Amino acid sequence: MNTNSHISELSIVAKALMAPGKGILAADESDATIQKRFESVNLESNPASRIAYREMLFTAPGAENYISGAILFDETIRQSASSGESFVKILEQKGILPGIKVDMGTEPFGASGEKLTRGLDGLEERVKGYVALGAKFAKWRAVFGIGGGLPTDECVKGNASRLARYAKICQMAGLVPIVEPEVLMDGSHTQQNCEAVTERVLTEVFAQLKQQEVDLTGILLKPNMVVSGSECPEQANSGEVAEATLRVFLKTVPPEVPGIVFLSGGQSPAEATANLNEMNKNGHLPWPLSFSYGRALQAPALQAWAGKPENVTSAQAAFLRRAELNSLARAGTYLPEMENSESGALNLTSQD
Ligand code: 13P
Repeated sequence: MNTNSHISELSIVAKALMAPGKGILAADESDATIQKRFESVNLESNPASRIAYREMLFTAPGAENYISGAILFDETIRQSASSGESFVKILEQKGILPGIKVDMGTEPFGASGEKLTRGLDGLEERVKGYVALGAKFAKWRAVFGIGGGLPTDECVKGNASRLARYAKICQMAGLVPIVEPEVLMDGSHTQQNCEAVTERVLTEVFAQLKQQEVDLTGILLKPNMVVSGSECPEQANSGEVAEATLRVFLKTVPPEVPGIVFLSGGQSPAEATANLNEMNKNGHLPWPLSFSYGRALQAPALQAWAGKPENVTSAQAAFLRRAELNSLARAGTYLPEMENSESGALNLTSQD
């Protein structure tokens, strides 16, 4: 396939991921991360429990009404559900596009605890393998901590350069790269600090994407929202988060980017929904804004499931409820009162 046909296919996939009312489920936790999540419900992480958990999420009835794509981990894209059907097939049958995390975590950078994301070695070959397994898009996450003079320019540049290289490699193989620079919430920094760092990071990321000739119409941006540090005594409210986040994006994100899908980054599920809703209430923007949440979509479902087969139906209802509320937030029609109503108020279906 030549580069031009790749490019038009990429923008078709990017648009499908941004379908109105839908967002992305980030279910690509590494083994270490899923172990941490499972520990919170006293569950051992092993291949069988990971399959059971992902099967609960991917087979939730009607998830495809709210979910356009699911990001998988390397193990998951090769696994099958209890029916014997592969997870990729199950998602495809629902019209949910399968995606894949291709970064390989982080490596230390410098003496201040900063990190660079790794995974470029052999990426071209790995990406070809994922295309053969059915992946349509990919994800690479870089992290930036705030505090004590961090992040350094060297770390911002290093991670931005690797993000751009990853994006280029994916596009050449026909995968839409989700470019994820995450300015972390951890710490006591103010919302203003987060705004300044997010602007620095996004400016550098788009400079590198341009320099490495990445087609911006065939990527999605997955950024943090501009929030106060989790230990900051003064917490910005949804209106302030929306205003500061949009202020930064309007300065840094070119209009040809086909969509922005937020990470939740440690916000509670309700906060992540309310903040997205607030931004989408703001009217006309150059790009659609949606979600690509991990914890904010999964946390209530994991709590409800806790590894027990008899809880699958209620766990799926909890997942579908978050997905539906975030779908409303895409249109700016979510109301915080909806958090207090049982699922029936939103007419959520359960399996039985
Ligand atoms: P969270 O929404 O839990 O931050 O996860 C999203 C993600 O994919 C992080 O890379």
